[in-house]
Amino acid sequence: MPDPLPADLPARFYVTTPIYYVNDVPHIGHAYTTVAGDVITRWRRLFGDEVHYLTGTDEHGLKVQRAAEARGVTPQEWADATSARFVDTWRELQIANDDFIRTTEPRHRAAVQAFLQRVYDNGYIVKGTYEGLYCVPCEAYYTDDDLVAGNCPIHDRPVDHVVEENYFFKLSEFGQRLLDHYEAHPEAMQPEGRRNEVIGFIKQGLRDFSMSRTSIDWGIPLPWDPDHVTYVWFDALFNYCTAVGYGSDPERFDRWWPVDYHLIGKDILRFHAIYWPAMLMAGGLEPPRCVFAHGWLLVGGEKMSKTKLNQIFPHDLIADFGVDGYRYHFMADQRFGPDGDFSYESMVARYNSDLANNFGNLANRVLNMAVNYCGGIVPDRRADGPLREQAADTFAAQADAFARLDFASGLAAVWDLIRATNSYIEDSAPWALHKAGDADATADVLGDCLEVLRIIALLTSPVIPNAAAELWRRLGLPGRPDDQRLPAASAWGGLPAGNVLDKGAPLFPRIEA
Ligand code: MSP
Repeated sequence: MPDPLPADLPARFYVTTPIYYVNDVPHIGHAYTTVAGDVITRWRRLFGDEVHYLTGTDEHGLKVQRAAEARGVTPQEWADATSARFVDTWRELQIANDDFIRTTEPRHRAAVQAFLQRVYDNGYIVKGTYEGLYCVPCEAYYTDDDLVAGNCPIHDRPVDHVVEENYFFKLSEFGQRLLDHYEAHPEAMQPEGRRNEVIGFIKQGLRDFSMSRTSIDWGIPLPWDPDHVTYVWFDALFNYCTAVGYGSDPERFDRWWPVDYHLIGKDILRFHAIYWPAMLMAGGLEPPRCVFAHGWLLVGGEKMSKTKLNQIFPHDLIADFGVDGYRYHFMADQRFGPDGDFSYESMVARYNSDLANNFGNLANRVLNMAVNYCGGIVPDRRADGPLREQAADTFAAQADAFARLDFASGLAAVWDLIRATNSYIEDSAPWALHKAGDADATADVLGDCLEVLRIIALLTSPVIPNAAAELWRRLGLPGRPDDQRLPAASAWGGLPAGNVLDKGAPLFPRIEA
């Protein structure tokens, strides 16, 4: 679709995370998606894009109702308390989300009801009787074939047998339209392996799904039949539209919809890649531009779960590694796609090698030498040596990788530049040049190294915003890296001669295991 806005206005970039269930408190799995969304949106802000980054909490449904009952509080009280934990965790991780949506907010209820009415009027919701097997933790129905040894394939626990009269969404009518959609827009479901999985599933034939409940009341009533509440997934998925003004601000909605990226874990692929686009089509709305499903973070080879007591919480790791150390680890350690295993030992090792040794030492060394050999100011000379070209290549490689949400490769390119700069220092030995009294040659080498530090601060700022801003300040630069504009700011030669340098304390003190 052609962009309706004039080309001189910033591009719009709308990214979402799943909204997290409030039956659980935030752990590193939730934070994984949320940090990734934060990194890609900070990156796009550097290019001057107008960004909207959304996260929030999913607060209706049987699972939440039961969690509240078990603690003797109302579902709303329970949701309020747990939702606040997510807000606090994202603040602690310095997530720069533009909105935080809760499905119990009045704005969401109004939007869902308006949308439901539209889909109902369009004839895609009909009444029927459902008999099936329900997994409460998944809030999803399964067939006998889906079960593994009689248990839910995701949670490995028994499912409930339920018979209910309720409303059905006619998903079965959307198989061909979905296949056509993914054929015309293969980029709409990534990575490719997941797309094939989705297409295979659609080809097996889609069945209508029950989209209302009478057995619980913790949900949004159907506007035409208030004895029924909306199935939690139908309600939850719509948050992505509510938040940008569906039903309340049509102009705003048109500006932001369709969304650019729904970032999700592979566990909720079918909901996002099949149910959701079909629901949107049924309501006359465009499907998402891209659903991107990443793998699971495993702990000791297993998925984290409350019952296995193997959950790890961001707060505990931030205490040891700092916010930047935390964010860097999860973005650099595993590719955003396949499953990956988390271990504390490898987090310590990566922190010490990448952040303390490579990044921190480079900054320390260069600033120290510039203070000792160049009087603590940026020299008015540069060698414009090999680092110049490598810095340009690094930016290009990172931009290419980040455009594919391949954060690990993008960061690897920046760390190659960091290592190359360390080697350049070894090879050109500015201490020897200084000792030999060659001030010009010393300034040439350090001029290049200082310029690399500026570029590195800029390129790493979406991931390690605090260290990047501090390095920026130590280079005597005004403002913060976040205020810069890429690609122009990545061009070689942006560090003004005469800037006063501050060598400061180590940016990433080593952690003893
Ligand atoms: N409420 C639904 C989503 C509704 S979206 C309209 C839900 N919530 S959840 O709390 O269970 O969170 C699911 C998401 O959290 C996953 O899709 C994934 O993005 C993230 N993760 C939860 N555990 C995870 C791991 N162990 N590893 C990686 N991500 C994980 O499903």
